[in-house]
Amino acid sequence: MSNEHLGLAKKFKVNPSSCGGDGNLYEQKLVLTAQSQQYGDGSVIHVLLESDSNGEPQRIVGYISFVANGIDVPSGGDKIDSLPAIEIKTMAVDRDFERQGIGTLLLDYSIHVAIALRQNFIGVDFIITCAAESSVGFYSKYKKQPFVKLDDFFGNADMDDAPENDLDIPNNIPMILTLPK
Ligand SMILES: CC(C)(COP(=O)(O)OP(=O)(O)OC[C@H]1O[C@@H](n2cnc3c(N)ncnc32)[C@H](O)[C@@H]1OP(=O)(O)O)[C@@H](O)C(=O)NCCC(=O)NCCS
Repeated sequence: MSNEHLGLAKKFKVNPSSCGGDGNLYEQKLVLTAQSQQYGDGSVIHVLLESDSNGEPQRIVGYISFVANGIDVPSGGDKIDSLPAIEIKTMAVDRDFERQGIGTLLLDYSIHVAIALRQNFIGVDFIITCAAESSVGFYSKYKKQPFVKLDDFFGNADMDDAPENDLDIPNNIPMILTLPK
C-alpha cells in the first residue's frame, strides 16, 4: 500500500450489515495505511485490485493484513508453549464484490503466504484471527481447512488456564487454522 492507492482506498466501502459493527474501521485502516504506509497495529496490508483492460487499477476489491504472532498455551506445570502463527489482523471485501468468493480467495492467499514463510524464512504452523462475531460463519465455512474456535481447538479446560493472548478482544472470537503439512 502506498500513496498512489489513496484514491482507490477512499472508494472502498464495506457492507455495514456484514461487519456487525463499525464498517468505517475497515475503510479507515485502508485510507490511513495509504496515507502513511503504516497503521498502529503493526500489520502489513495486501490488497486485491481490479484493473481495466490496460492493467490500470480501478478498485480495491478486498484486502487482508498480517502480523507475526503466537498462541500461548499451558503445557503442564508452569510451562507455557508459544505456538508459531501468523495472524490475520483484518480482512474485508468491498460491498460490491461480496459473496463472490473474494473472501475465500484472500484466505487462500493467507495460506500461500504462511507456507511460503515456512518454506523459506521462519517456522509457522498456524493462522489465527480474532474474528468479529458476524464473520465466524465465514471462517468456519472455509473449505480447504476450516478455522475453528480457539476454545474448541484446545478444549475449554486447557484455555481456562492459559495466559491472556492478545486475541482476547471483547465480543470477538479467537479462531485458528492448522496449516497443511
Ligand atoms: C466476511 C467477508 C470477508 C466475507 O467475504 P466474501 O467475499 O463475501 O466471502 P465469500 O464470497 O468468499 O464466501 C465464502 C462462503 O462464506 C459464506 N459467508 C460469507 N460471509 C459470511 C458470514 N458473514 N457469515 C456466514 N457465512 C458467510 C458465503 O455464503 C460462502 O458460502 P458458500 O461457499 O456456502 O457459498 C466480508 O463479508 C466482509 O468484508 N465483511 C466485513 C468485514 C469483516 O467482517 N471482516 C472479517 C473480520 S476481520
